[in-house]
Amino acid sequence: MDQKTFYITTPIYYPSDKLHIGHAYCTVATDVIARYHRLLGEKVMFLTGTDEHGQKIEEKAKAAGVTPQEFVDKIVCGERGILDLWKLMNISNNRFIRTTDDYHVAAVQRIFRKMYDKGDIYKGAYKGKYCTPCESFWTESQLVDGKCPDCGREVHDAEEEAYFFRLSKYAKPVQELLEGGEFLEPASRVNEMVNNFIKPGLEDLCVSRTSFSWGVPVDFDPGHVVYVWVDALFNYCTALGFLNDRYDDFDKFWPADVHIVGKEIVRFHSIIWPAMLMSMELPLPKKVYGHGWLVIDGARMAKSRGNVIDPYLLADQFGVDALRFFLLRSFPFGSDGNFTNELLISTINTDLANDLGNLVSRTTAMVEKYFGGTLPAGREDDALDEELLGLIRGTAARYAAHMDKFQLHLALEEVFRLIQRANKYIDETMPWALAKDESRRDRLASVLYHLLEALRVALTLLTPFMPDSCDKAFSQIGADESAKSWENAGRFGVLPATVSVHKGETLFPRIDAAKALEALEALQQKPESAVKVEPVLPEVVFDDFAKCDLRVCKVLSCEAVKKSEKLLQFSLDDGSGTPRQILSGIAKYYKPEALVGKTVAAIVNLPPRKMMGLVSNGMLLSAVHEENGEEKLQLLMLDDAIPAGSRLG
Ligand code: MSP
Repeated sequence: MDQKTFYITTPIYYPSDKLHIGHAYCTVATDVIARYHRLLGEKVMFLTGTDEHGQKIEEKAKAAGVTPQEFVDKIVCGERGILDLWKLMNISNNRFIRTTDDYHVAAVQRIFRKMYDKGDIYKGAYKGKYCTPCESFWTESQLVDGKCPDCGREVHDAEEEAYFFRLSKYAKPVQELLEGGEFLEPASRVNEMVNNFIKPGLEDLCVSRTSFSWGVPVDFDPGHVVYVWVDALFNYCTALGFLNDRYDDFDKFWPADVHIVGKEIVRFHSIIWPAMLMSMELPLPKKVYGHGWLVIDGARMAKSRGNVIDPYLLADQFGVDALRFFLLRSFPFGSDGNFTNELLISTINTDLANDLGNLVSRTTAMVEKYFGGTLPAGREDDALDEELLGLIRGTAARYAAHMDKFQLHLALEEVFRLIQRANKYIDETMPWALAKDESRRDRLASVLYHLLEALRVALTLLTPFMPDSCDKAFSQIGADESAKSWENAGRFGVLPATVSVHKGETLFPRIDAAKALEALEALQQKPESAVKVEPVLPEVVFDDFAKCDLRVCKVLSCEAVKKSEKLLQFSLDDGSGTPRQILSGIAKYYKPEALVGKTVAAIVNLPPRKMMGLVSNGMLLSAVHEENGEEKLQLLMLDDAIPAGSRLG
C-alpha cells in the first residue's frame, strides 16, 4: 500500500530583526503536528521559509545602508537569524523556501502570466490606502478609525498604474468553500471572513506595484513588481516544484493537508489564496487553520509594541523542550494566550517536574532499588490495575482525535490524565510496602511494569512535543525503537517482561520560582520607551572645540537658591584651590544634598553670568533627552577616582 502523505506548512516569515516567542509559537505548533504525522507513519512534507520581498524590506535595507538582498540574507541566515531560531527550537521542517530563491521568482512570473493570459489579471489604476508594515491595500471602508484594520497603524494614499486580480469573480465559490465547514478552522473564523470581507463585496485585488522595485518583476511589463502576497502565497506550490524544475514533489504532495497560519493572515489564506488557486485551476488545500496569538496583557507580542519575549533567553533558562511544551500546553491553539513568566514556570514545575519527571524518576528508582534495575518475569495482577490499564490502552485514540482537530492542548490533557493516574496508582499500590513482603515480589513487579508501560505510552504521545527529552526518558525506561511506535501506543504489554531500566539525569529539574522570576525580569527587555534624541549639530573645527575648558570638579556644597524653583547653587573644587560657584537649573531633577561629594564635569571658561542676584562661573555638563514627551536630565557623573581639575577633552 502507498504510504499516506501529509503536507503541512507554516506561513513564510517576514525577515524580522527581532524574532520573538510569538514567532516561534506558530512554527513549534506546526512542528508538533508534523512530527505527530510522522509518528503515524505518514510521509510528511513540512515546509517553512521566509517572505523576503516588499516595500518594507526595501526601506529597511536602505536605512541600514545595505542592499535588500544583503539585508534579508543577514536576518535569515545570520547569527540568531530565522534559520538559527528554528534550529534552536528543534524544528523538523523538510524544506525551507526563500521567496528570493531563483526558482521561486521564475515560477511566480509564470503564474502571474498564466492568470493574465486567462484574463483574471488585468491592467488598471490603483487608488486607495496602503499599510506599509502589513504590505496590505485597503479601501476606505475597510479602515478602522482611518487606520489599518490589522495593525492599527497609519495608512497612506496610494495611486499608481497597476494590475488587478479578479477577486470579485471568485466571491461566490470562495463563500461556498468557507461555508462548507471543512476548509477553515476554527469555525469561528468562518463568520468573520464571510461577514467582514465577502458579504460587503469583494473588490478586485491590486496585484502589482510600481513605486518600489524589491519584488518579483512582472516579466511582460518592466517597472511592475508582483504584490508580495501573491508572491508569498504561491510559495506553498513552488516549494514542491510547481512551474519549476528545482523540485519534483508537486504531484505527490499537493494539495496541502493544512496551512497553519496566525489569525491576522487568515484573510489572505482563506479568501485570496483559494481564489487564485481557482484561477490557476489547481486543487485547493484541504484546510487552513487560524491559530491565536501569544499576547502580553492582552496585546499581541510584537516588536513595534516593545513587548517581545526572547526565545533564546527562555530556552537557555528552561530548556527547549520545556519551552515547546509550555507553548502548547498552556493555551488553546485556536485562541489567544496570555504569556507570563509565572505561567511558564508553574507549567514546567507542575506538569514536567512534578507529574512527568517524578513519575520517571520514582519508577526507575524503584525498579533499581527493588530489583537491581531489571524486572523479574513473574506477575500478579490486581483489580487496582484496571483503571490505569484502561488509560494505557485508551489514551492514544483520544489523543489522536484531538490532534487531528489541531486541539493540541486537549491532546496533552489526555496524556497528563494518564500520567496523573499513574502517580496516583503509586500511592494506591504502595510499592514500598509490597517490597517489605517477600511473598509480594510478583505483585511488586507487576505494579512497576504497569508504571513503565504507562510511561512508555505517555512518552510516545509526548514525543512530538518534546522529542529530545522523550528520547532520554525512553532510554531510562528501557524502551527500544519498536516500543516507541504509534501502533504500540494503544497497547499494554509491549516492553519486554524482564525490562531493564537505566536511571539517568533528572529530565526536568524543579525551578525555584522566586529566583527564576527575579532572574528573568532582570534579563527581559523592558518595553522600549519613546526616546527622542536631538539631531547632530553642524560641524565645529577642532580649534574651536579646544577653546572650551572642560574640567572635572568635586561638589563641595550644594543648596537650592531661595525663591527659585529651578536653580541649585554649587560650590565646586575645580583643582585651582579656590572654590568655584556654579548655578545650575536642575532643581527639578536632584535633591541638593544628594549631590555633595559627587564628581562632575563643568565648562569653566564661560563668561560669568548673574542669576537671581548670584554669579555663575561656568556650567555643569548634563545629558538631556526626551522620553515619552518628557524632558529627562542627568548630570554627567564621573569616577570619583579622577582628581579635581583634570581636563576633559
Ligand atoms: N509573511 C507573512 C506570511 C506569508 S504566508 C504566505 C507573515 N509573516 S510574519 O512573520 O509576520 O508572521 C509569521 C507568523 O508568525 C504568522 O502566522 C503570525 O501570526 C505569527 N506570529 C507573529 N507574532 C505572533 C504572536 N505574537 N503570537 C502568535 N503568532 C504570531 O505574516
